[in-house]
This record gives sequence, C-alpha cells and structure tokens, in this order.
Amino acid sequence: MEPLRRFDRAALWEGHFAYYREEGLGPWQRQEVPDGATSFGFALQAAHFAHGMSLPDRPLEIWELGAGTGAFAARFLRALARIQGRPEPRCRYVLTDLSARTVEAACHRPDLRPAIDAGLLIPATLDVLAERAPMALDGQPIPTCPDFVIGTYFACILPTTWVRLRAGRWEEAWVVEGPRADAEPTWRLVELDERFPEPALPAALRGWAAGVESADVPVSEALARLLLGQLPWFGPDTVLLLSDFGSLAPAGHPSLRHKPLTRYGDSLAQGQALSFLAQVAASGGRGVACTADPTHEVQTIATWPDARDLAPAFRAAWLDRAWGEEQADLQGAARMWAEQGGSQRALRLYQRLFAELGDEPELLVEAGKVALRAGLLTQARALLERALACMGGSGFDVDFDLGRLCMAEGAWEAALVHLGRSAGRDPHPITQVNLCRVHRARGDGPAALTALHAALRLDPEHPAVRQEQALLLGDRP
Ligand SMILES: C[S@@+](CC[C@H](N)C(=O)[O-])C[C@H]1O[C@@H](n2cnc3c(N)ncnc32)[C@H](O)[C@@H]1O
Repeated sequence: MEPLRRFDRAALWEGHFAYYREEGLGPWQRQEVPDGATSFGFALQAAHFAHGMSLPDRPLEIWELGAGTGAFAARFLRALARIQGRPEPRCRYVLTDLSARTVEAACHRPDLRPAIDAGLLIPATLDVLAERAPMALDGQPIPTCPDFVIGTYFACILPTTWVRLRAGRWEEAWVVEGPRADAEPTWRLVELDERFPEPALPAALRGWAAGVESADVPVSEALARLLLGQLPWFGPDTVLLLSDFGSLAPAGHPSLRHKPLTRYGDSLAQGQALSFLAQVAASGGRGVACTADPTHEVQTIATWPDARDLAPAFRAAWLDRAWGEEQADLQGAARMWAEQGGSQRALRLYQRLFAELGDEPELLVEAGKVALRAGLLTQARALLERALACMGGSGFDVDFDLGRLCMAEGAWEAALVHLGRSAGRDPHPITQVNLCRVHRARGDGPAALTALHAALRLDPEHPAVRQEQALLLGDRP
C-alpha cells in the first residue's frame, strides 16, 4: 500500500510554491499563468470599491497579496488617482508577494517607479501561509495594518483540500504521494469538528450543504483565515477583496464535482466555490458580498467586519458595473481582429473600450500601435497624444511609440526627443535600434554607432540588434 496524504498536504504543493518562489517574472514572461484579472477594468472596479471606503483623516492603507508582476498595482494606482482627480493617488500601497525575486523584478516596472520613489508604494515580501507580518525589501517589518487587502488570482493558489458529502456523511480526499498525486483520490470519512479547528468551517459546510443529498467542495483553510480576517496583520476594520476564477454554483451542483487541479507551468490552481466561501465568511460573523453573473470569467468576493456596511459600495463597484469583463471581451476581440489584419474594426472596438473605461494610457498605446502598424498615422497620433495627456505621474512610457510614429512620419528631430525620453525611462534594445535608425537617416554616423553599442550592451542576441549591426557595420564585429 502506498502511503496517502491529505490532499492539501500532498507534495505537489511544494513544487508549486518553489515555482513561484524561484522563477521571478518567468511564469508571466513565458505566458504560463493567466493574468486577465489584473486588467485595468478590474483594477478600476477595485479602485472604486476602495474609494468608497476612503478615510477623511489619513490616506487609505492598501496591501496587495501575491502581487506577481506588479501590473495590477500600476493599474490600480492609475485608476484610483483618476477617481480621486489627482496626479498621484492618495493612499499607501504595500505590494507583497511570497517571492522576493518577483517583488524586486516588479519594482523595475517604469510605471511603478514614480510611486516607489514617492514612498507611496512599499515593496515587501509576505508569505500568507506564515504567521508573520510582511517585510520591506530592506528586511524591516511593516508595522501598520491594512485598511484594504486585495488579491487577484490569489485565492486559487492556496493549498486546498476536497471535502464531499455522501449519504449524510462527510469525506475528505487523500492522495498517494509522487506523480500520481493528481489521480482520483481515496475518500476517507472525516469528522468535521475535529478536522477543522476553525468553527466557521464545519458550520459553513453544514449550512452550505443543508438540504442536498450529495455535495463536493474545495476547502482551503488558508483562504478561510483570510476571509475571516484571522491573519496576525489584519486590523479590526480590514476589508478583503479577492478576484479569481471560480464557480457560483450552489451546493450539490454537478459542475462542482471533484476535478484535478488546473496546472499553469509548474503551478497549481484551484477554482473555489464562491457560494461556499461566502458561507464561511458569514459563519465567522463577517459581512460578505460576491459577484453574481455565472457567465463572467472572473468572480470577486469581499469580506468586512460585520459592523461596517460595505454592501452598497460593493454593489456600486462590482454588481452595477463589469468593466473587467467588458475589457476582456472588447480588448480580446480587438486583438483578434488586429492579428487577422482587420485593423479598422479593431480600432472601432478600442473606441468602444475607451467609451466604457475612459482614457487609459496602456490601452490607448495598444490601440495606437495597431493604427501605427496599419499605417493610419493620423489615428495613431491622436491615440498616442491622448495617452500622453492622461498618463499623469504614472511614469507610463508613451514616448517609445510616439518616437516610432515620428519615424514613420519622417520627423527625425521629434523622433530623437521621444526615443531619448523613452530610453531614459526604460532602457530597451529596440529603443536604441530605433535611435540608431534615426541617426542613420539624419546622416549622423557616430551617433548611430553610439546607439548601436548601447543596443548591443542591452541584448547582443536580439534579432533586430543583429540586423542593425549588420547594416551599420557589415561583417565587422
Ligand atoms: C497566480 S499568481 C497571481 C499574480 C498576480 N496577482 C496576478 O493576478 O497576475 C500568484 C502569486 O502569488 C504568489 N504566492 C504564492 N504563494 C504565496 C504565499 N504563500 N503567500 C503570498 N504570495 C504567494 C506567487 O509568487 C504569485 O506571484
């Protein structure tokens, strides 16, 4: 007989955490893990919810869990600044992740630098499974507690077990060790009150499955602690907001039958049952609200201390609007049309997106690139100038594409200004290649050579760098 382990203690979780701890931005650069919930649309909804709980006497203290690339943080801060009508948002944002390597890499984002330099964004490491406060990158603990905690695609990565109800009795999934750990589990009878020391969990399981004959549900004790506000760094008023993939199905629904974990790269993901999570929060005496449309790709749950009434704020930010889903639909379709050569249609879809979400530099630049590629230079200029006008103090790089646009227009001097600014903000080999091309077009050989050497220092293997090298130097090294 092979030894069995409870599902949430299976060794496969160790590889999952090692993957996130060691790989830095690799999982996102290789597009191994999804990032739809980090979009500006979802960040805008979260920022509206945060704005709904603003404090008159001090900036809101916001912590992000499992922040990954920092993309959500950058978009959230832009969204909050826009809602507040300020160049910089009024808040303090602690960006945390399990992995110091990932946090350090996120800090290099040009659109996060201004917030870090202004002391408005504090990068920190935080392992939510450990009973410790987050630590800033200099090793100092963060002594404050958050008003608002956010996590996108975070609920799904926490170790989860499966529990099911059959013939009036509860059972838990156990698995063999090793590579077959994902196979159909062995189900063992479980005494809920002994198994789950947190009383809200057995109460929630019983309440959730009341009246159904059989039910299956993923259960994460770590996630329950978060929903219940039980981590040591939670304050008495802390509000939690988690957006993730998951199911709205009620207990007993066949779609909730136990399934193998989803794998992204070497990570694991477990879609949670939101109706059960809401029951956990309510059983622990927390206020709770969830999104309600089962056709949505991303679902969101918020919990708060029962004494506060944040249901109206949640309704306004998450039920009355669906900017995140709108963005997924419109941007997805626009990208598809752009790839298939339907640039005009793509640009019309982007216009609908701006009508929904308002102007946002990252999306305007994306649309500007489509126009630029299609040779629609007037449209490209209009889009990129709109991006420039709305980027505020975000540090977002619009100059890279404005430089390319000026090159397409043959406006060499203006191209030099934009590309120079872009290179100062975010050193990139392609910016140097473009600078090299502009200098060549202006007949300035020495300046072209300087830009080429800068490109070679950044990435000597990049095909565009090699091509430029061949053009400028022929076969000479
Ligand atoms: C699926 S990714 C989501 C990243 C980002 N929020 C997004 O939506 O793109 C999960 C993130 O959680 C981090 N993580 C994994 N285990 C963690 C833990 N125990 N405590 C805190 N963060 C953790 C990972 O390093 C990773 O960056």
